[in-house]
Amino acid sequence: MTDTDKFRIGVCGTGNLGRMHLGGLAQRPDVTVAAICDIRPDAMAKAQEVLTRAGSSAKPCRFTELREMLREPLDAVLIVTPTDLHARQSVLALRAGCAVFCEKPMALSLRDCDRIIAARDHAKRQLMIGQCLRFWPEYQALRQAVQSGEYGRLRALTMTRVGAFPDASVNAWMGNGRRSGGALLDLHLHDADWAQDVFGPPRALCAAGLTGPSDAIDEVSAIWRYADFQVTLRGSWLHQTFSMTWQAVFEHAALEFGTRPEGGLCLRRAGAAAWEPVPPPAGPDGYAAEMTYFLDCVRGRETNTRCTAESTRQTLALLLLEKEAVRRQTWIRPGRL
Ligand SMILES: NC(=O)c1ccc[n+]([C@@H]2O[C@H](COP(=O)([O-])OP(=O)(O)OC[C@H]3O[C@@H](n4cnc5c(N)ncnc54)[C@H](O)[C@@H]3O)[C@@H](O)[C@H]2O)c1
Repeated sequence: MTDTDKFRIGVCGTGNLGRMHLGGLAQRPDVTVAAICDIRPDAMAKAQEVLTRAGSSAKPCRFTELREMLREPLDAVLIVTPTDLHARQSVLALRAGCAVFCEKPMALSLRDCDRIIAARDHAKRQLMIGQCLRFWPEYQALRQAVQSGEYGRLRALTMTRVGAFPDASVNAWMGNGRRSGGALLDLHLHDADWAQDVFGPPRALCAAGLTGPSDAIDEVSAIWRYADFQVTLRGSWLHQTFSMTWQAVFEHAALEFGTRPEGGLCLRRAGAAAWEPVPPPAGPDGYAAEMTYFLDCVRGRETNTRCTAESTRQTLALLLLEKEAVRRQTWIRPGRL
C-alpha cells in the first residue's frame, strides 16, 4: 500500500490513552498518523517516541490547537482529551469533514451527546465512541454465554471495576469531578455500558454512592433489575490498584473473570467438584478490535451496529439516573431514555 492510499489520521490528546492508541495505529499498514495535537509539547514529544519505538517512520505534524490540526487533510480524528472537551472537539472535527473516534465517556451531559450526534448527522461522517469493553475478548465470551443459553438462563451478574484515585501528577483533570464525572462516569461507565448494550435498560435501578475526593461520586454500587435476573454493578476510585472482575450465575453453571493474578476466565458447572479454567478467547485486545471496527466502518466495510453513539448516550442517561437514585435513595424506573 502506498502512502497516498493510506488513511490519514490525526490524534488530539497525546496523554496516556492517546499514546496507547498511537502505539496501536503505528502497527497498522493501512493508516498514517499524519498529525497530532496537544496543549503540552512534551506529551507530543513522547508520542513521537511511541511511534518510533513501535517501528513507524511517521513524523506527524504537531499542533497545539485542534482548529489548526483540522486544516490538514485528514480522514479521521481521534479525540483523546479530558472528557469535558469531548463534545466541543468532536463537533469541530465532524464539521471539518472528518470521521471521529471519541474516547469514552462521550460527554458529561445528554445535551452534549445530542450536540455531537446532530453534528454527525449534519456532516454525514462516521462517529464512534471508544467503549472498548464491547470489544474485550472475555466480555465477548460472557455475551456469548448469555445469548447462546449454553449454561441456561442468566440469573445474576455482578460486575466490579475498582482502582486508585487518579494521580494528580499524571492527569490532574481526572481527579476533578466537574471535568471527568468522577468514578461514576469515568470508570463505572464501562460496565454500565456493557450491561446496557447487552441487556438494554433495566426495568428499575437503585444505587448507593459516596462523594469522594473528585467531589463527584467516586464509589458506587447499583442494582439493575430485569424481568428474571439482576445485575449488580460496582465502581470505585477508593482502592489501591486497578482490577476488573465479573461473576455470572446461570441456571446450570457459574462463569467468572478477573484481572487479579488468580483471575482469568473460569467455569463451575452445576454438580462439578472444581472450577475449570477457560482458555482466553482468541483475537486482538479490545482497543485494537474497536479501532479495526471503527476504521472498517469509515471505509464502508461495516455498518456501525456494535457501538453507536445513540447507544452510548443511553448508557449516560442510565448513569445520570443512578446519580439521581443515590441522591433520592430510591428505586427508579428508567422509562423512555
Ligand atoms: N477506554 C479506556 O479504557 C480509557 C482509559 C483511560 C482513559 N480514557 C479516556 O480517554 C480520555 C483521555 O484520558 P487520558 O488518561 O489519556 O488523560 P491524559 O491526561 O493522560 O491525556 C489527555 C491529554 O489531552 C491533552 N489536552 C488537554 N487539553 C487539550 C486541548 N484543548 N487540546 C489538545 N490536547 C489537550 C493533555 O495535555 C493530555 O496530554 C478521557 O476521556 C478518559 O476518560 C479511556
